[in-house]
Amino acid sequence: MIEMKNVYKSFGKNNGRVEALRGVNLSIADGEMVSIMGKSGSGKSTLLNIIGGMMSFDSGEYIYDGKSIDYKNHKKLVELRRNDIGVVVQYFALAEDLNVYNNVALPLKYKGYSGRKVKKLVMEVLEELGISDKVKAYPNELSGGQKQRVAIARAIVKQPKLILADEPTGALDAATGEEVQRIFKKLNDSGKTVIIVTHDEKVASICDRIIHIKDGVVDNEV
Ligand SMILES: Nc1ncnc2c1ncn2[C@@H]1O[C@H](COP(=O)(O)OP(=O)(O)OP(=O)(O)O)[C@@H](O)[C@H]1O
Ligand SMILES: [Mg+2]
Repeated sequence: MIEMKNVYKSFGKNNGRVEALRGVNLSIADGEMVSIMGKSGSGKSTLLNIIGGMMSFDSGEYIYDGKSIDYKNHKKLVELRRNDIGVVVQYFALAEDLNVYNNVALPLKYKGYSGRKVKKLVMEVLEELGISDKVKAYPNELSGGQKQRVAIARAIVKQPKLILADEPTGALDAATGEEVQRIFKKLNDSGKTVIIVTHDEKVASICDRIIHIKDGVVDNEV
């Protein structure tokens, strides 16, 4: 499903230049659940952002579903992230001025669905995640675990094949983190490909495989 060949990405210029990725090679199969681990600053988030079409890269090749992603083609990157991929981040990134319903409905706005269809999809996913009673609540009225469930609901409401998560349990206490971890496992059991950046050994232990990143390259694939 995902293949990277010699992918490079740097930030800044001249003396301020940082080489975040220095020739990444990896492949991830459809239906896999993979964690990405490595020290702070090793390039994990950069890698995840590129996989998700949220960031371009400097050179190398990124093949998604058999198609080479042209890193200069921003329209293509937008399409990729709009249709195929759901993203969850550590601090939830919910819109504070929208209630739970409207946060989760947001990714469907661009799809041109009828109001009825949007409502059906949103309510289904809220029920699946056990937060349908919070449909009218605003993010500041929710616990961390509830916020992360809303964020996961928003990521999966468009029924993406691929779910990316950047430290999804990083801001949660251990028990809540385990609940969220189980949600990802369930999503994977239902056929989604899941890639999780994590520092959490427990999260990594429920994945099929760990990809270790060190200084911007894949160190070893266990
Ligand atoms: N937008 C940016 N501008 C400049 N430098 C950046 C930018 N994003 C990342 N970097 C640099 O690229 C390197 C890799 O960053 P990245 O965020 O991918 O690391 P990470 O492995 O996710 O770290 P952490 O575990 O702390 O989240 C770091 O040296 C970082 O400072
Ligand atoms: Mg990071």
